Amino acid sequence: MTARELREKYLEFFRERGHAIIPSSSLIPENDPTVLFTTAGMHPLVPYLLGEKCPKGNRLVNVQKCIRTGDIEEVGDDTHLTFFEMLGNWSLGDYWKEDSIKWSLEFLTKELDIAVERISVTCFEGDEQNNILRDTESAEIWKSLGIPEDKIKFLGKENNWWGPAGVTGPCGPDTEIFVDGVEVWNNVFMQYNKTADGKYEPLKQKNVDTGMGLERTLMILNGQKNVFETDVFYPLMDISRGALDTRAKKIVADHIKAATFILAEGVVPGNTGRDYVLRRLIRRAVRYGADFSLAEKVIEIYKDVYPELLKNKEKILESLKTEKEKFDKTLKQGMREFNWMLKTNAGEKILPSSIVFELVTSHGFPFELVKEIAKEQGKIIEEEKFWNKMKAHQELSRTASAGMFKGGLADGGEETKKLHTATHLLRQALEIVLGEPIMQKGSNINAERLRFDFGFARKLTDEEKNKVEDLVNKKIAENLPVNKVIMKLAEAEKTGAAHTFGDKYGDEVSIYFVGDNLETAWSKEFCGGPHVENTGKLGHFKIIKEEASSAGIRRIKAILE
Ligand code: ALA
Repeated sequence: MTARELREKYLEFFRERGHAIIPSSSLIPENDPTVLFTTAGMHPLVPYLLGEKCPKGNRLVNVQKCIRTGDIEEVGDDTHLTFFEMLGNWSLGDYWKEDSIKWSLEFLTKELDIAVERISVTCFEGDEQNNILRDTESAEIWKSLGIPEDKIKFLGKENNWWGPAGVTGPCGPDTEIFVDGVEVWNNVFMQYNKTADGKYEPLKQKNVDTGMGLERTLMILNGQKNVFETDVFYPLMDISRGALDTRAKKIVADHIKAATFILAEGVVPGNTGRDYVLRRLIRRAVRYGADFSLAEKVIEIYKDVYPELLKNKEKILESLKTEKEKFDKTLKQGMREFNWMLKTNAGEKILPSSIVFELVTSHGFPFELVKEIAKEQGKIIEEEKFWNKMKAHQELSRTASAGMFKGGLADGGEETKKLHTATHLLRQALEIVLGEPIMQKGSNINAERLRFDFGFARKLTDEEKNKVEDLVNKKIAENLPVNKVIMKLAEAEKTGAAHTFGDKYGDEVSIYFVGDNLETAWSKEFCGGPHVENTGKLGHFKIIKEEASSAGIRRIKAILE
């Protein structure tokens, strides 16, 4: 079956059952500043799930384009995708569990001809703490429809609860449907509203929100090994055949597809929020050997369903090219350093792990690339030592972020706090002026001055230093509020706040942001604080020194006058 056939079958099935077909909405959520991308079809429907009247009626169906960025590093296996399509049907206070479950099973077994023996399900086991009952109702419905008891499992909140999509909003227990052990469909019974203080209030109405993964379902229907064999991927895998290994092909296909869709929404690669996600996707694809003719293939595959792709074709291709050039430049600068390091190490068989470590952490080289180049030079890498160093490095930055500039932010005094806030402004200004993500390598603050170390290949020019100072002083003059939010790590990562990728943080992290709200904030960082309430308090920012602290690491000292 093709993607087109499956989309059409699904929409038609629910249209016949009184559902209005609504278009896919944008990948950029309109009303929810807490999420970067639309992650499910229910996103734009939140007001209606909360009880507002929907002009299209109370039964809806659509195919929604979605982006989930939690798993970028996992992409490359058989199941993780950044961009995917979700087939969804909704009841806004209309039908409830019985019809929802009945129609799902009917669609799978009658329309898609999947033998009922291949199907198993899970239901919600209950949550005593919040007084939410075990969902025996759904289990009974499944049984009455011929699913045997041993194919019905009860699981807890991590598995059988969905939502809210952002920090607060509609959510509820769900029942998940598996074919041959692969999850294909999730029916959520949205009857609660999660409030800002973490409570579950009953909603005014009982809603159904379902989501079926298009790519996975296609894979199952066609007996394929993975989603990359389906017709929404195969042309992308085919074109890069030969040159790349399978994992690289999957990464490239996924990332270029996601980037193409994000670019079609008018997002441009940058250093914060969704701009940064886009930058990461493009750069990771380039690292794995992406050829941008793939973007044209993506447009070809989807142009009838998502006309915005063809409409923005020129812009999409241009943006990809520009971003690749910028990345090439960064790599080239790093390459100079690499060559220099190789020279100082000439005649040795082993490339010391300290050099490999520098290249990876300070110059943004992928480890695989360092290994490859070293091999070309006839050198061996001390792999185990390198990974041990990486581990120790991550431990260290974890302690640093958990311990709030341990040894640096010695006191919570007013001057120190001001300089701490100035450090955040400095980091963001550096990103903007230098045009690349700035990785903090250390920070030390006392009542007199701040000291900030970051990975960068060369000395800053006077012009760059002036620009950084001006930008920080401009943000001070704008008198911006400094705010803090605490959120779950997975949510926090989606906000695009600066932090050390690969670091281990706790389940909950705090983000300090400069600006009125998190989404549009000028600077946002994972940080323990403390900070001043307003940038207007800082005074005049001045860089007093810029120097190398070690290879590939620059150190800035600055004061507030
Ligand atoms: N919103 C539900 C999900 O994404 C259907 O799984």
